Amino acid sequence: MALLEVKNIQKSFGKTEVLKNISFSLEKGQVLAIIGSSGSGKTTLLRCLNFLEIPDRGTITVGGKTLIDGADSTTLSDEAIRQNRLHFGLVFQNFNLFPQYTALENVTLAPTLLKKGTPEEIDSLGRRLMEQVGLSDRLENYPFQLSGGQQQRVAIARALALSPEVLCFDEPTSALDPELTGEVLRVIRGLKDKDTTMIVVTHEMEFARNVADMVIYMADGIIEEMGPPERVFENPQSEKTKAFLHGAQSMF
Ligand SMILES: Nc1ncnc2c1ncn2[C@@H]1O[C@H](COP(=O)(O)OP(=O)(O)OP(=O)(O)O)[C@@H](O)[C@H]1O
Ligand SMILES: [Mg+2]
Repeated sequence: MALLEVKNIQKSFGKTEVLKNISFSLEKGQVLAIIGSSGSGKTTLLRCLNFLEIPDRGTITVGGKTLIDGADSTTLSDEAIRQNRLHFGLVFQNFNLFPQYTALENVTLAPTLLKKGTPEEIDSLGRRLMEQVGLSDRLENYPFQLSGGQQQRVAIARALALSPEVLCFDEPTSALDPELTGEVLRVIRGLKDKDTTMIVVTHEMEFARNVADMVIYMADGIIEEMGPPERVFENPQSEKTKAFLHGAQSMF
């Protein structure tokens, strides 16, 4: 059975239908890359999965547990929303670290607040995650003392700290200078080697092609094309996808 199943997700803001009917599923350890032009609904989809927005309709199931089931989305309690959020982690485009905390404290804050272990256990978890993203020597630095790539790697460690079942990234490298992009993509690739299930919204076509198991091209709130990267990139079926990939090629 799929680890994540998303069925018929719809989301409108006022009269604007931003997500029209999104369905896909993901197996444990798979990486899904989502590509698409600006305004196609990619961030909204990730925000719905992370319960930062509540979909108007649709079903989200993780590990056999249905978090939201179509019709009753408006009746979700605040506590249910908080619980649902724990199944997903989200890494933002602009890092969004807490500026008043050190790198290590950024990573340990959530497990500390949620009492996910003794202070010693949480401290060693934080150190292990900082090591995993290659920043053992930066534990006591504040965000302003770190490069963009380092801040983003702290943000990844922070997102891992609550062991989410699915880790989502919203254009994790688009705020970075090109020379810092590689270090962040390497960390994401390393997570795949550790069987982490991930959804990555990205403009990095090479990365999507090389690392993703499945690619979705979104256009105007629908999944215009979905398939393994070889098929989506080498042999796209829809005219819109062809036009997008053609444009992307000349841009990147
Ligand atoms: N809170 C909101 N209120 C009203 N409209 C919104 C809101 N959030 C997003 N939208 C609209 O939804 C549409 C999709 O936005 P979204 O941010 O999901 O696109 P995106 O694919 O992530 O774009 P980009 O590539 O520029 O990040 C846009 O038209 C946007 O203006
Ligand atoms: Mg976006």
